[in-house]
Amino acid sequence: MQKNSIKDIIKNPKIDQIISVNGWVRNKRGSKNVSFISVNDGSTILNLQIVAESKSISEEILKKINTGACLNIEGILKNSQGSEQSLEILAEKIIILGEADADEYPLQPKKHSLEFLREKAHLRFRTNTFSAVFRIRHALTFAVHKFFNEKGFFNMHTPIITGADAEGAGEMFKVTSLDLSNIPKKDDLNIDFSKDFFGKQTNLTVSGQLEAELGAMGLGKVYTFGPTFRAEKSNTSRHLSEFWMIEPEMAFADLEMNMDMAEEFLKSCINYCLENCKEDLNFLNVRLKNEEDKLKKEERSELGLIERLEFVVKNDFERLTYTEAINILRNSKPNKKKKFEYLIEGFGADLQSEHERYLVEKKFKKPVIITDYPKEIKAFYMRMNEDKKTVRAMDVLFPSIGEIIGGSQREERYDMLSDRMNELDVDKKELWWYLETRKFGTCIHSGFGLGFERLIMFVTGMKNIRDVIPFPRTPQNAEF
Ligand code: 4AD
Ligand code: MG
Repeated sequence: MQKNSIKDIIKNPKIDQIISVNGWVRNKRGSKNVSFISVNDGSTILNLQIVAESKSISEEILKKINTGACLNIEGILKNSQGSEQSLEILAEKIIILGEADADEYPLQPKKHSLEFLREKAHLRFRTNTFSAVFRIRHALTFAVHKFFNEKGFFNMHTPIITGADAEGAGEMFKVTSLDLSNIPKKDDLNIDFSKDFFGKQTNLTVSGQLEAELGAMGLGKVYTFGPTFRAEKSNTSRHLSEFWMIEPEMAFADLEMNMDMAEEFLKSCINYCLENCKEDLNFLNVRLKNEEDKLKKEERSELGLIERLEFVVKNDFERLTYTEAINILRNSKPNKKKKFEYLIEGFGADLQSEHERYLVEKKFKKPVIITDYPKEIKAFYMRMNEDKKTVRAMDVLFPSIGEIIGGSQREERYDMLSDRMNELDVDKKELWWYLETRKFGTCIHSGFGLGFERLIMFVTGMKNIRDVIPFPRTPQNAEF
C-alpha cells in the first residue's frame, strides 16, 4: 500500500487501489450512515474527499473527526460522483493522529479576516489563502536560485552580524552580550564595547551588499539571499523589521546591464510561478477578484491577478531618469490640484509612494525604472555622474507595490568614493576593507537588492506584507 501526498494522488490517480493518506480535516458533513470528510495535507490547494460509512468506521472514531483534527486514512480510491471533486477515498480504516476540540479550534470552516488569522499565525498555514501564499513563496525562492545559477552567479552567504552600516541610515538593531543592567562604561561615560562579545559594537545587517561587492571583485558574479533587519518605525503595509533580500552584484557591469538583469530576473521569477503554480494562482486570482469587488469602481484594478503577471512578463519596463520623472510629476493633475500629500516643486524632492504609484499606475501603466537620482537622497557608494549632482542609482517600481528593487552602479574610483565618505561622514576606518577593493584592481561593477516579500505580494496579490512571511516582525510585534 502506498502512502502518497494528495498532490501525487490527484496527479496520478490509481483508481480502485488501496491507498493511505494523512491530512487535516477541513470540513465534515453527512448523515447518520455516511460522513463526507474533506482533508488537506498542504501539498496542494485541492482537498481530498473521504467517504466514511458507519458500517466500516466506528462511531467513536467518527465523533472525533472535527475540523482541525489530523487523520490517517486507508481506503480505496474511487472516481467521485460529486460535482465538487473528481476523486474520493472510500475509507476502510481511519486513525486519529491528533484530535482537535470542536469548540476550541479557532479555524472553523468559514471566512476569517486576514487580521484575525495574523493572530493565529501558528495555524494559518492550514487555510487555503496562506497555504497558497507559502507554496508560492517557496516556488519564488526556487526560481531565484534557478535564475542565478543558470546565469553563472555564485550564491554567497554574507554575515548577519556586522560592524558596518551599509546604508548609513542608523536604523540598526544592536547585537550585544553585555549585561544590560550593568553596562561597562569608559572614563568619558560612553559604553565600553571592548568588553562586548566581539570587542566592538555590532549590529544586525541591513544589507549584504558591501560584502557581496567584495565577492564580486574576485568571483565576478555573486548573489546573496538572506534576512535583513531594519529598526525603522515604519508601520506600513509594505515594511517589515525583518525581511529577506536578494542582492546580486556583478563585476564589469554598468547601470544599463544592471537594469537589463533586474528586468530579466523579475520576469523570469514571475514566469516560473505562472508555469508552476497554476492552481494556487487560480485560487488567489478568484480571491483577489472577490476582494476588489468590495471596493469602489475607481479603486479596482483593470486587470485580474494572473493578467497582471502576464502583462509584466510580456512588456518592456518603462525607463526614465529622476529628472524626467520630476517633470512629469510636477505637471501632473494630482500635483496641480494639490491632491498629493507631498507636492512636487522640483529637483531634489524625494519620491514618496504616492508619486511612484502615479507614475506606474496612472501615467505608464507598467513597471517603471527610474535612474540617476540626486546624490543627496541616495547612499554614499553610488557612482557619481558627470554633472556631480546625480548618481547612477536605479529603482524599479511595480504596480500596487511601489519600490520593489533598489540598486546602482557602484563608485569604483578610489578618490571619488573617499570624498563621498568624507562628505557623508561614513566611517572610513570601519570600512577600510571596502575602500581597499578600489585600491587593488578596481573595476566598474553594479548590483541591486530585491525585497523578496514585496515580490511575493505582487505575485500573490496580497495587500499586506505581514501576510506573505510566516511570522512577521514589525514594531511592537515579535509574537511566535
Ligand atoms: O532600497 P534598499 O534599501 O537597497 C539596499 O539595501 C541596497 N543595499 C540594495 C543593493 O543595491 N544591493 O532595499 C532594497 C529593497 C527595496 O527596494 C525594497 O523592495 C526592500 O528591499 N525593502 C524592504 N522590504 C520590506 N520591508 C522593509 N522595511 C524594506 N526596506 C527595503
Ligand atoms: Mg531603496
